[in-house]
Amino acid sequence: RTVAVILAGGVGVRVGLGIPKQLIKIAGKAIVEHTLEAMSRNARVDEIIIMMNADAISELDYLREGDHFPKLTRILPGGATRNDTTQLALAALGDEDCKVLFHDAVRPFIDSRIIDDCIDALDTYDAVDTAIPSADTIIRVGDDGCITDIPNRSLLRRGQTPQAFTASVIRRAYALAQDDPDFRATDDCGVVFKYLPQVKIFVVDGTAENMKVTEPIDIHIADKVFQLQSATLSNDPADVPDLMGKCVVVFGGSYG
Ligand code: CTP
Repeated sequence: RTVAVILAGGVGVRVGLGIPKQLIKIAGKAIVEHTLEAMSRNARVDEIIIMMNADAISELDYLREGDHFPKLTRILPGGATRNDTTQLALAALGDEDCKVLFHDAVRPFIDSRIIDDCIDALDTYDAVDTAIPSADTIIRVGDDGCITDIPNRSLLRRGQTPQAFTASVIRRAYALAQDDPDFRATDDCGVVFKYLPQVKIFVVDGTAENMKVTEPIDIHIADKVFQLQSATLSNDPADVPDLMGKCVVVFGGSYG
């Protein structure tokens, strides 16, 4: 059995629109709803749980109306940090022995191939990450603001989600993390990597489209990606948007 947890507990300070960024609408639907639709489409995902920012949880009541999302069983309050939110989701799962996928609510363009790859990889590994190569050179910078290292780019990847685990392993990693007063992590693979170093974390290929809406510019980019994907799905060349032309309008606007 596979459970997908959509992590929507954040506030979106960097986007800075005064509402949690997962509620921002793209093509008339909240970003988190696009993410829920994408997860629901994968036939191998049996159950979906949304962990929502506690102050805005009632904003998602409409998702339970009708029978649009039969796999969505629970919408629960998230925690103060992303890792707290993961832990609350694990608590909600109880002792169940299943495959569990954690996915950022603000990556609405997750495709089913990535989800399948994560689920398949869990037949061999207990922990799975999703990542893409970095087009940019990644540099390490010291306290003085100067470069201390330029790691070989071909070995570096940019981590995305889903991150997938056998439930027992991610539970064990968080149990160990809880005993560590210096616990700090930004994702779930980081917790396994730190506290269960013997566990191999397999990496499946992500996609550029599986971007995380993080900064204000990402709303515009996400809108374009959505247009491109709907046009591709409709398979009608007439629907393919003039992306370059539209980008000139979007970016040109700010120059007056
Ligand atoms: N997240 C969560 N619980 C938190 C914080 C974050 O479930 N306490 C989720 C976010 O809702 C998002 C994902 O983790 O879907 C990735 O986090 P990030 O992009 O950092 O989101 P925010 O914390 O909302 O962004 P910001 O740091 O700009 O406030």
